[in-house]
Amino acid sequence: MMHTELTSTPDRQRFVYIETMGCQMNVYDSERMGEVLSSEQYAPTDDRSTADLIIINTCSVRDKSEHKMVSMLGKLRPLKEHNPELVLAVSGCVAQQEGEKLLKRVPHLDLVVGPDQIADLPVMVRNAREQRSRATATRFIHKNDYEFIEAQAPADGRVTSFVTVMKGCNKFCSFCIVPSTRGREVSKPSDKVVSEVQMLVDSGIREVTLLGQNVNSYGLDKRGRKGVGGELDFSGLIDRIAAIDGLERIRFTTSHPMDCSDRLIDAFGRQPKLMPWFHLPIQSGSERVLRMMRRRTIVEDYVDRIERLRKARPDIAMSTDIIVGFPGESRADFEQTLELLRRVRYSSIYAFIYSPRPGTAAARIEDDIPLAEKKERLYAVQQLQNAVTAKWLQSFDGAELDVLFEGPSRLHSRGQKSNSIVARAVGGPPQLMGRTPHNVKVNVETTDFYALRDWPGQIAKVRIDHVGNHSLNGSLVAFR
Ligand code: SAH
Ligand code: SF4
Ligand code: F3S
Repeated sequence: MMHTELTSTPDRQRFVYIETMGCQMNVYDSERMGEVLSSEQYAPTDDRSTADLIIINTCSVRDKSEHKMVSMLGKLRPLKEHNPELVLAVSGCVAQQEGEKLLKRVPHLDLVVGPDQIADLPVMVRNAREQRSRATATRFIHKNDYEFIEAQAPADGRVTSFVTVMKGCNKFCSFCIVPSTRGREVSKPSDKVVSEVQMLVDSGIREVTLLGQNVNSYGLDKRGRKGVGGELDFSGLIDRIAAIDGLERIRFTTSHPMDCSDRLIDAFGRQPKLMPWFHLPIQSGSERVLRMMRRRTIVEDYVDRIERLRKARPDIAMSTDIIVGFPGESRADFEQTLELLRRVRYSSIYAFIYSPRPGTAAARIEDDIPLAEKKERLYAVQQLQNAVTAKWLQSFDGAELDVLFEGPSRLHSRGQKSNSIVARAVGGPPQLMGRTPHNVKVNVETTDFYALRDWPGQIAKVRIDHVGNHSLNGSLVAFR
């Protein structure tokens, strides 16, 4: 041991560039990777040309996301040829899915690190750096031994943060790769969640978004469906978090309809810190397709839950995920999806063309719908939803809404030109971005010279005076 210590390169400041693809879970994991690497003197950088370590944190939910990784790896090749000292790693869901095979296929890749192995990243990186060893770590850790990596206080002045409360998925929908890339459901102990949120609030966070592949299954791995194992369920967890002074807003994502309990529905009526925003993926409006997808959801039960949610919280903004072109989806099945969108009137949706994923049950069914037809269905879904979303946003015109300010408006800080009132703000008075309770972005222009310093983290009443396609513009009425 002593020997390795003595011969290792003298410590100097090193830089890590992390490219994050995929879902919020990867965003959270990338932050934890950045933090654990500080033990090896790596500081984050946005400039990959000067980085000593590059990590691509990948997603494999659709083939498109996987292609993104392949193209990024291609781009990094010249960099690696130029600087043989550079360590190149792939993490996340493609790493888990492909393992060793990735190292074989990509000669300039050093490390493949699965989502359960982030704690080992510093040692793996050190070995790669000092011994030029190439390695793969993709073992899943059993739920009894699983330790969530502790988050550190953010130092960038942000006011909202993700907090992972559970990982993995036990649902095995036939189209989905996530159960094989993230392993089984494991809940973070509620005491740990609470102390993480408290730490975040102490460092200026006002809003948390609780993360997991199925957050509403929180605690089931510890307490069972009968609730005997001594852990809180998801609504109990929300209540505990809501009791934290200084925390203003709670959101969560994502949920499977199956574990959307009555207690969770009640929480929306009872808990003012729980924001009226709920992403509840259905995937299809056809019972037949849902069965083929193994979604364990009945459309009428789902719609009934939404009705109850709307009783508990009349203004709740519902959103969903839709897959079009699942194998065997007939025109009539597809029409039922459109019908569901008309019935529920979501405030927004994410719609995807079905993409066969390796090793999933659906990948064994013939992918029988021509791409042109799939694209047409996607377009139809998006057209319908755009109209519904526009009408919903329009309903805020002239309203006074509570806005939590986050920082400079992106349009403003990027100096982009646009035909809205934003254009006038470029180089002019400060413009700030905040969000409404329904998670809609609002840009507010002000003559307050200190707004960029003082407003982030504060909630104010804002009057909406312009409705855009995806965001709003408003003017400050008063701080709370
Ligand atoms: N746990 C969540 C979803 C996680 S994956 C849930 O159960 O609802 C995010 C979304 O990606 C899914 O809701 C689905 O709409 C989409 N998706 C997953 N696998 C896909 C595939 N093979 N092809 C197309 N879209 C897919
Ligand atoms: Fe995938 Fe289904 Fe699990 Fe969601 S619930 S992550 S869609 S397997
Ligand atoms: Fe993608 Fe993995 Fe998230 S497949 S969507 S990064 S859980």
